[in-house]
Amino acid sequence: MYRIALIPGDGIGKEVVPAAARVLEEIGLPLHFVELEAGWETFQRTGHALPEETVAGLKSCHGALFGAVSSPSHRVPGYSSPIVALRRILDLYANLRPLVSAPVPGSRPGVELLIVRENTECLYVKRERLEDNGDTAIAERVITRRASERIARMAFVLAGQRQRAKGGVPSIDSGRRLSLSEEAGKRALVTVVHKANVLSVTDGLFREAALAVAAEFPHIPVEEQLVDSMAYRMILEPERYDVVVAPNLYGDILSDAGAALVGGLGLIPSANVGDEFVLAEPVHGSAPDIAGQGIANPIATIRAAGLLLARWGESAAAQAIEQAVLSVLADGPRTRDLGGTAGTEEVAEEVIGRLEIEASR
Ligand code: NAI
Ligand code: MG
Repeated sequence: MYRIALIPGDGIGKEVVPAAARVLEEIGLPLHFVELEAGWETFQRTGHALPEETVAGLKSCHGALFGAVSSPSHRVPGYSSPIVALRRILDLYANLRPLVSAPVPGSRPGVELLIVRENTECLYVKRERLEDNGDTAIAERVITRRASERIARMAFVLAGQRQRAKGGVPSIDSGRRLSLSEEAGKRALVTVVHKANVLSVTDGLFREAALAVAAEFPHIPVEEQLVDSMAYRMILEPERYDVVVAPNLYGDILSDAGAALVGGLGLIPSANVGDEFVLAEPVHGSAPDIAGQGIANPIATIRAAGLLLARWGESAAAQAIEQAVLSVLADGPRTRDLGGTAGTEEVAEEVIGRLEIEASR
């Protein structure tokens, strides 16, 4: 039995999370849903963006499906993003973003890459201050050997699985069931992204730690790429890359740029992963401009649900979801962001319908 927390959050999160949960219900695994709340509306009502009951509820689950939360554009005292807090509380130290070509206009062909982003430190420790009477702003950047090594280790473990996964769903399972065959097909390449030529201390440490881990995986090819050149090459020849590992800020930027390569916000999921927990979410936000109309694209969140299952080693179920999604993307119905006219539920029901076809084969 997998216990899955559902946290719809705000805006279209309230539409796409239930749609994705419907797909999970049909997948034929023993799942139990725990509905929890967080976000801006929760804050306005209770004074807490992340209530204690939500944290306690999450700790009783194996994973969570998170919609999106709205953030005010100005600073509101007492409010901070629940997702940032959750990453810390649940030690979700890796952010995994699979980017796979989709049969929709605007997606590049031949892309099947996985961005493995460090999720706990770098500039996102938010140690910012003003000096010089407010005329100088300073941010501290924290890179530790421990965090760099563990994110690199995750990248190499996942790269080791991808030779099996190549041509299917990018595998993000925890590796506990992994048996690596030395002679299996093409080896996935790991690209270590940094800027150690300029930031020789912080990025220097990230690079050194990642390359030390690489030495533990002599059968997996590795290369380094400076982040600016990586941005250029990822746009120019995304099909060249397999697994890309990066510090938090660079990984964040590359992840969103990468989402644009393969169909955009409505399609792309990510998973925040720790050793014990996985919190999957769509890349998009709460989309207040279309919230409440039932027209949001549920595909990113349905795929996020697939990432939960993949992480737990339920590869057949994860594959079934991805195949149904690709099939629906190929010949519709499609939501408006993809040029169609369908609503959220119609698309989710279509995915479910094709799941059944897959399962009865
Ligand atoms: P957004 O991703 O919510 O929306 C950007 C544009 O894409 C909008 O035009 C929206 O209608 C469209 N869009 C997004 N998801 C879609 C979907 N599933 N189907 C169809 N169209 C979709 O980003 P935006 O507008 O910058 O932010 C809105 C709110 O969301 C803000 O309060 C922001 O702070 C929050 N946000 C939350 C995130 C999270 O919870 N992880 C991530 C990004 C933004
Ligand atoms: Mg982002």
